[in-house]
Amino acid sequence: MANNLDEMIRHAAEIYRSRHLLTAEGLGAEEIVSIFKIAEYFVEQGINGRKRHDILRGMTVISAFFETSTRTKISFDLAARRLGADVTAFQATASSLAKGESLLDTLATINAMGADMWVVRHSQSGAVELMSRNSDCIFLNAGDGRHQHPTQGLLDCFTLWRRWKGEMSGKRVCIIGDIEHSRVARSNFLLLQTLGCETGMAAPGTLIPHSWPILGARRFLSSKEACEWADAAIFLRLQKERMEGGLLPANDGFAKRYGMTCSLLQKLPHLTILHPGPVNYGVEIDAESAADKRSVIREQVTNGVAVRMAVMSVLAQKQRH
Ligand code: CP
Repeated sequence: MANNLDEMIRHAAEIYRSRHLLTAEGLGAEEIVSIFKIAEYFVEQGINGRKRHDILRGMTVISAFFETSTRTKISFDLAARRLGADVTAFQATASSLAKGESLLDTLATINAMGADMWVVRHSQSGAVELMSRNSDCIFLNAGDGRHQHPTQGLLDCFTLWRRWKGEMSGKRVCIIGDIEHSRVARSNFLLLQTLGCETGMAAPGTLIPHSWPILGARRFLSSKEACEWADAAIFLRLQKERMEGGLLPANDGFAKRYGMTCSLLQKLPHLTILHPGPVNYGVEIDAESAADKRSVIREQVTNGVAVRMAVMSVLAQKQRH
């Protein structure tokens, strides 16, 4: 089994083209599936994949979240520790950034103490790429502005890939809600289309990114219409922190047209529902639908640890050879 894992990591590292994971853009289907196979190994080791490995032994991972997070931060930290790394959290608000030290000075200062891998969430699109260009370390983008959240996209697709036993081609997946402000949507559209899925979307006109071409995605006018078409629906949180105001008539109007309720779900026995979290219950999804057997929201969170373990293993292997 261990040899099988080593072989899968070696193979994935050979075909994976970048030394970082900054974006879902440019990832090929073979690269993605090779990561899924490693993640599946970790999932099948048992719930929460608690078995320890030494794949990152001797490596120092800096977990730098300049924006709030629960699931991404904790799952990256658990993933790194389960792979044997030393993990240090950088607390942006308690750091010398507050005294005016720049992002790049902060990076150089921490690297001078010895760092191998950075996991970074930042409110500015492109901040993680900027850091990667000014360091020899490996960088994993844990979400930058509204640009990309590649590990969330990978874990969402991995959850569907497992549910559909690896058969993604021709499956229909719609993304519903605040697409304009969503880095999760940007990563997911790219990954889903690369894996052969048909994609759709439903959102108010103010929450669709006209500046960003969602190639091939069909537009639907309501969650009902989109979910009748789709095999799976990814609901997105309304990101009020990124809205400059006036983009929505009212939460209840949005919920009626673009939300998921248990009465709608009853008519959709075929549907799988996802949400990257955190959920605004009663807005994107009501609590009953979120707890329904067709919802894989908790499975997404569990799979997040395994997918992040897989990506970190591949990048560490690539760095070594
Ligand atoms: N899905 C997601 O990124 O959640 P967190 O903000 O809690 O990390």
